[in-house]
Amino acid sequence: MRRLFPVTDQTPHETDHEWSLDDIADAYAYPPLTGGAHWLRANMVSTLDGAAQHEGRSQPISGETDMRIFGTLRALADVVVVGAETVRQEGYRPARAREAFAERRTAAGQGPAPAVAVVSAGLDLDFSLPLFSAPLVPTLLLTGAGAPADRVAEAAAAGVRVVVAGEGAGVDPQRAVRELAGLGLVRQLTEGGPRLLGQFVAAGVLDELCLTVSPMLTAGTAQRIAGGPGIKVPERLELASLLEEAGFLFSRYRRF
Ligand SMILES: NC(=O)c1ccc[n+]([C@@H]2O[C@H](COP(=O)([O-])OP(=O)(O)OC[C@H]3O[C@@H](n4cnc5c(N)ncnc54)[C@H](OP(=O)(O)O)[C@@H]3O)[C@@H](O)[C@H]2O)c1
Repeated sequence: MRRLFPVTDQTPHETDHEWSLDDIADAYAYPPLTGGAHWLRANMVSTLDGAAQHEGRSQPISGETDMRIFGTLRALADVVVVGAETVRQEGYRPARAREAFAERRTAAGQGPAPAVAVVSAGLDLDFSLPLFSAPLVPTLLLTGAGAPADRVAEAAAAGVRVVVAGEGAGVDPQRAVRELAGLGLVRQLTEGGPRLLGQFVAAGVLDELCLTVSPMLTAGTAQRIAGGPGIKVPERLELASLLEEAGFLFSRYRRF
């Protein structure tokens, strides 16, 4: 992989060579967060023509290095926030503890793996799946006060930590971010999907977008990375870094 931006003097990190997981983790470090500050980063992959999935999954448009970065971003996070549809379609499993990141996580005061926080209103989820019943750290369920009580009880009985972050059945994105931060989960990562990411964007709470541009075309009617109601004035972000490997571009954009 090589660094295309920012352009600096050539050091081993900037030349085209295989990056270690440590190199990647250094490149994607969260900013220092003090005094209750939190940071919400999204990690998404898109084809050249804007598709965020192929036949309902993101794996066909991803690649080996993208998956290494995906895993590293998880390893840097306190919590991975994901929409229920992505959990259902991608068969989400709990995050695992990885030896390669153990020391880094301990030094950052983090547990062995990030918690997964599933966002759902209807709670049509199978709480007997390992994601809910057998994670290393308890899975969180972000839902609204009006969510079906029997499903909430079922989730809690399976060991899920239910966090109310909305007045009706749904979750208020701003409140979700605040509630997670209140639990000490300040290094936040969302893996979408597009309907959830669109709400974080519209609510103005997304601090950073890690976008992989996959050198593929799919045409068709796939969702793009963020959907739902648009925002009035397009929000401009600042390019923080750009890496390249095998035609894939790994960009990192931050809010100004
Ligand atoms: N390219 C990528 O990087 C990428 C990343 C992730 C996913 N994907 C793809 O995206 C597709 C799924 O994404 P999606 O956009 O359809 O769905 P999604 O955002 O993953 O999940 C939508 C679901 O999340 C829950 N939800 C969303 N906002 C909510 C709110 N404010 N309050 C309460 N619940 C809320 C609802 O769950 P309930 O229905 O349970 O109430 C809703 O049906 C899959 O094909 C997946 O492969 C691609």
